[in-house]
Amino acid sequence: MPDSLPRTARQIQLAARPRGKLTGDEFRVAEVPLAPPEPGHVVVRNEYVGIVAVLRALMEPESDVPIPQFDLGRPLVSDVVGRVVATGAADIGVGDLVTFRGPWADYADTAEATVLDPAALPEPCYHLAARNGATALLGMRDVAAVTEGDVVLVSGAAGGVGSLAGQIARRLGAARVLGTAGSPAKCRWLVDELGFDDAVDYHDDDLVAALRAAAPEGVSVYFDLVGGAQFEAAVEIAADHARFALCGALATQAGAPWPRLDTGAAVVKDLTIRGFALHHRWDVFAEWPALFSRWLGEGMVHPHTVVDGGIEAAPRALMDLLDGRFTGNVSVRLT
Ligand SMILES: NC(=O)c1ccc[n+]([C@@H]2O[C@H](COP(=O)([O-])OP(=O)(O)OC[C@H]3O[C@@H](n4cnc5c(N)ncnc54)[C@H](OP(=O)(O)O)[C@@H]3O)[C@@H](O)[C@H]2O)c1
Repeated sequence: MPDSLPRTARQIQLAARPRGKLTGDEFRVAEVPLAPPEPGHVVVRNEYVGIVAVLRALMEPESDVPIPQFDLGRPLVSDVVGRVVATGAADIGVGDLVTFRGPWADYADTAEATVLDPAALPEPCYHLAARNGATALLGMRDVAAVTEGDVVLVSGAAGGVGSLAGQIARRLGAARVLGTAGSPAKCRWLVDELGFDDAVDYHDDDLVAALRAAAPEGVSVYFDLVGGAQFEAAVEIAADHARFALCGALATQAGAPWPRLDTGAAVVKDLTIRGFALHHRWDVFAEWPALFSRWLGEGMVHPHTVVDGGIEAAPRALMDLLDGRFTGNVSVRLT
């Protein structure tokens, strides 16, 4: 066994299924054996573990999400970036920067590592935005087909997908880009840092009136990451012929019921309402890294919250993400 390869890895495992809001008791730290890699496998020193809202749904026994649920006594799994420390794969060398879907752990064995170009993006953790970025691109460009003159509303705009989606809408020619977020500070940040034209705190007592004030002409595109009351409000303020791209369900993932569709309004306004999921369009995922690199060079802002503290910090990072404490994409740094 090479000197640099420890005999054990530290993992965060699912200790108990959640009951409502996460408390921390759902997680436990475990030490598991780490062996030299079999042929075709590599062992990776994980450097960044991605934290995303959907992980909460995967802790339940079942969900609508097309990703395997987490098993009790097994590690949580998310997108990871790290360096290879031992290799049994002919095409991957020790020291290569790689990404894969892997356990919340300091070291992990995988047969699914993809080698990354370390010079492609400013920080290794930026690679963890690939899923969210490609989703934002797919939704804005191919599903909503945003074009010159559109008035675009993004819900969940300060999060991982939303913070990129608003900027992509602008690049596609949107005349106005509006967002919703969970606090006045986040709304100001959307306007001041990400270039949104206006933003509305969705806690407003009269959400429909607040959205109408931001978009008196109505919205021609609604990019929905939240569902719930925000979806219902968007139907009310939609302009005739508006296109809805349904991407996420943050409200339902936080315990709210699925939204109700006012079919009368949908008919009279001639709305197009279309759901989409990235796993049907891996071609867009493949397109993302080069486009992202170019857009960053042209001034796209990539908000990315990095949480320090090693793998033990991951459970708290997920709880804080769900409580709305972060902006943009989020990862935990392990080295
Ligand atoms: N269709 C696809 O292929 C695809 C791909 C990726 C992600 N998704 C989905 O897209 C959604 C957004 O993902 P993300 O990674 O960008 O999440 P995220 O924005 O990073 O999620 C965390 C944010 O959700 C907001 N939030 C929490 N509870 C909320 C509630 N009850 N109502 C409204 N907002 C709430 C909080 O922001 P505030 O402080 O603003 O409340 C928090 O900062 C998720 O539902 C995810 O599952 C879909």
